[in-house]
Amino acid sequence: MPQNRFADVRRFESIDSTNRYLLDEARAGAPDGVVAVADHQTAGRGRLGRTWEAPPGANLLLSVLLRPALEPADRHLATTAVALAAADAIAALGLAGAVGIKWPNDLVDGSGRKVAGVLAETDLVPASGSEGLPAPIVVGIGINVNWPDGDADLPPELRGQAVSLRMLAGGPVDRDGLLDGLLAALAPRAADLGLPAGRQRLSLDLLAVCTTIGTRVRVDLADGSFQGSATGISPEGHLLVASDGVTRTVVAGDVVHVRPGS
Ligand code: BTN
Repeated sequence: MPQNRFADVRRFESIDSTNRYLLDEARAGAPDGVVAVADHQTAGRGRLGRTWEAPPGANLLLSVLLRPALEPADRHLATTAVALAAADAIAALGLAGAVGIKWPNDLVDGSGRKVAGVLAETDLVPASGSEGLPAPIVVGIGINVNWPDGDADLPPELRGQAVSLRMLAGGPVDRDGLLDGLLAALAPRAADLGLPAGRQRLSLDLLAVCTTIGTRVRVDLADGSFQGSATGISPEGHLLVASDGVTRTVVAGDVVHVRPGS
């Protein structure tokens, strides 16, 4: 029987950041498939240098260490694999259709409120102890499972911007069941990273649940911004935006922000 790729699950009552932990483990030569899960993070990391906060014991805070044999241009699909696995697991809770993916990888509800965020971090220089292994990607995801319980739980600036599975389901959600579902869904999705047809499947599956398609967006790049209509996802997982009569391909790494255009 094949061994479950994500069987090495390391649990922490409290840790600074599961992403930080797995990056350090990767530097020391940890293999593909290690998972870190925390009840609480004291220095949870979000995208764009932000922090990621959640009260102890309420939400799912986890990171996975992947070492996919991927060209640099395809490495962003590791984040897609984790976002899709989370969407699969949430759908299996009876919430199918309630949550989609805002390109490239935020999980949002039908009103665009954020359910989960994904942060991929990587080491560009192979560390001693990990020579010969494919370069690591640590993909962390924070899923709002049982917090907030309502808008009043949120700091004012997040009201109407974030939502939990508990709010969507109308009752408490089992974090361990969700973790098991996510890791089970991630195994085939991570395997897809290694195959051209698999990578295309990831892009197609992203297209199927992507809430950005059909909306007007403003894309903020490092050197300026433009507006257009999001029309699709390329086979490589990039966002296609029609703007001034041409279709522009937006690569995740270049984007500072995609938001509803004004
Ligand atoms: C975002 O800003 O949308 C991404 C948030 C990612 C948070 C998760 S929680 C588990 C993992 N460990 C971290 O320090 N961050 C990620």
